[in-house]
Amino acid sequence: MKKSTSVIFCTLAAVGCLAADPTFTVDATGPLAKVSPMLYGLMTEEINHSYDGGLYAELIRNRAFLDDKTTAAHWSVVKENGAEASMALDPTNGFNDKLTASLRLNVTRAGKDQPAGVANRGYWGIPVLAHTRYRASLLAKSEAGFASPLTVSIVSEDGRTVYAAGKVSGLTAQWKKFDLSLKTGRLTPTAKARFQITLQQPGTVSLGLVSLFPPTWNGRSNGLRKDLMQMLVDMNPKFLRFPGGNYVEGNTIDTRFDWRKTIGPLEERRGHTCPWGYRSTDGLGLLEFLEWCEDMKAEPVLAVYAGYSLRGEHVNPGPDLEPFVREALEEIEYVIGAGNTTWGARRAQDGHAAPFKLQYVEIGNEDWFDRSGSYDARFAQFYDAIKARYPQLKLISTIGNDQPEGGRVHSRKPDVTDEHYYRSTDEFLHMSPEYARDYDRGGPEIFVGEWAAHEDAKIKPWDAAARQQGPTPSLKAALGDAAFMAAMERNADLIRMQCYAPLLVNVNRGARQWRPDLIGYDALSSYGSPSYYAIQMFSRNLGDEILPVRTAETSIQGAATRDRHTGEIFIKLVNPSPGSQPLHLSLKGIASLSAKASVITLAGNPEDTNSIEDPKKAVPITSTVKDVKADFVYTLPPGSIVVLKLRSRP
Ligand code: AHR
Repeated sequence: MKKSTSVIFCTLAAVGCLAADPTFTVDATGPLAKVSPMLYGLMTEEINHSYDGGLYAELIRNRAFLDDKTTAAHWSVVKENGAEASMALDPTNGFNDKLTASLRLNVTRAGKDQPAGVANRGYWGIPVLAHTRYRASLLAKSEAGFASPLTVSIVSEDGRTVYAAGKVSGLTAQWKKFDLSLKTGRLTPTAKARFQITLQQPGTVSLGLVSLFPPTWNGRSNGLRKDLMQMLVDMNPKFLRFPGGNYVEGNTIDTRFDWRKTIGPLEERRGHTCPWGYRSTDGLGLLEFLEWCEDMKAEPVLAVYAGYSLRGEHVNPGPDLEPFVREALEEIEYVIGAGNTTWGARRAQDGHAAPFKLQYVEIGNEDWFDRSGSYDARFAQFYDAIKARYPQLKLISTIGNDQPEGGRVHSRKPDVTDEHYYRSTDEFLHMSPEYARDYDRGGPEIFVGEWAAHEDAKIKPWDAAARQQGPTPSLKAALGDAAFMAAMERNADLIRMQCYAPLLVNVNRGARQWRPDLIGYDALSSYGSPSYYAIQMFSRNLGDEILPVRTAETSIQGAATRDRHTGEIFIKLVNPSPGSQPLHLSLKGIASLSAKASVITLAGNPEDTNSIEDPKKAVPITSTVKDVKADFVYTLPPGSIVVLKLRSRP
């Protein structure tokens, strides 16, 4: 087992360091190793309404009337000025064998000033923006010759203000799809609005797949929310790990992420129950994940279902597992297959002729939970089949160095292993100095596929007590995150990729299953937590060479990297203590150094956090330092995360 030399933590007594102040030494004489170019990325799954009610821009909740078997959940009847109407879920009158239910609206009294119909309040509100074009669509049919137009509108919660409206006409007794555009005018943005479909005459109509989209990122028709995409792009991610997490596994085999059910027209996607207690529309399906990567200029890290589901079901390796191995091979073919392959052709038919880039495939998720001990053999079966067809792909085992040796994969050598760390800040501060020092440099690459610091070791992220706290972490947690990121940067020769989890949270109480989460939002606005900004500070200031660092007599943790093309040196420092910390910075092996450096600082009270109401309470500030020398003292503010950007020539 070779040891890393990327960081040497010494004490004065142990190695005779002479400096009076705490010191942080950066040795720029020669790089230790190359920084993995894919180090910073994103992890995502359907949790906390990350997609439905989150990134996926659809605004109608329960658009296909499949969320509840007995009622038309999230829909209500509209009856103005003495109109009469009723609605009912009709589980027998579906559009096709996927969308098996519809909403039956029966209007018995209505008129020009007496509209009657149904309304949907979206995912905790419908965001209404000024001068904006919304795309609405619905499947509809009528009974008993009713052929009058339907009014489709976005109105205030009380129905008194119409923000945008349009009409569809030509209903018949057969299902038909109607599309229309709803344009708002001047208004004050609000989410206190509802979407409604009303009649001005008595009649009976059935509705299926009712949809409303605001403008999306890159104008994709089945696309993603713009503000959230901007925040993700600003993190400079090099990869996206999807679709989970638990979401890939499902609670049961039947409710796994079955990718074939998530492609093609929305009318062909029934959706499924996700392990976090609600139904997913599957509107954000495999192709949308891949296009999401493309839109961020990031690579997919594709997790395939590997025969284990959360409630303990597993598929025996051997013939029983074969259909699932085939499912994974076909999924990979959909992603990278040429147009003359079955699934490559299907991808082209779905609108993306060119194969996507793919290097990494993860076999399952957190398979240490599979107490049957079948993962080694399941992994081997997937490994052999995938390598035989796609030898260039790197395969990730979900059991990494964070798990006991005995449970890991032994029958094959995984290219990469995935480690997960959900720990308190104190635990991260404690483990980070030594993290990965003893890892076998000749062993698999490391993917830290999920990590996050939380403030309190006693409260588990999924506990009800966690939901009593704010959805996103405070500055205290960000200090733990930053210490761990510095540790991963020091070992970025071996740590190939890493990503915080979970990424997204709809802040409404009913939407959340886990805390802390990186980015919070409601229907109208979004914000980054201090941890979001810490990651952004690190990922946007990453060189390509790891420089050895040494610390002495200090609780400060850090890392240094250099951009070999520009000579710029990035020093990341974390001061977890409640007092200012003067630090003697010593830079070795630098011939010329600009006296002026730029410094980005995230600091404040440990309890400081951001929120919808106060989104910028704890954000980084950029300033200039003017007295940089090969040896100089830099004072870190209390509880701070600092990135020093030095201009140098070796
Ligand atoms: O990130 C939340 C959950 O934590 C993931 O779904 C799972 O992989 C892990 O246990």
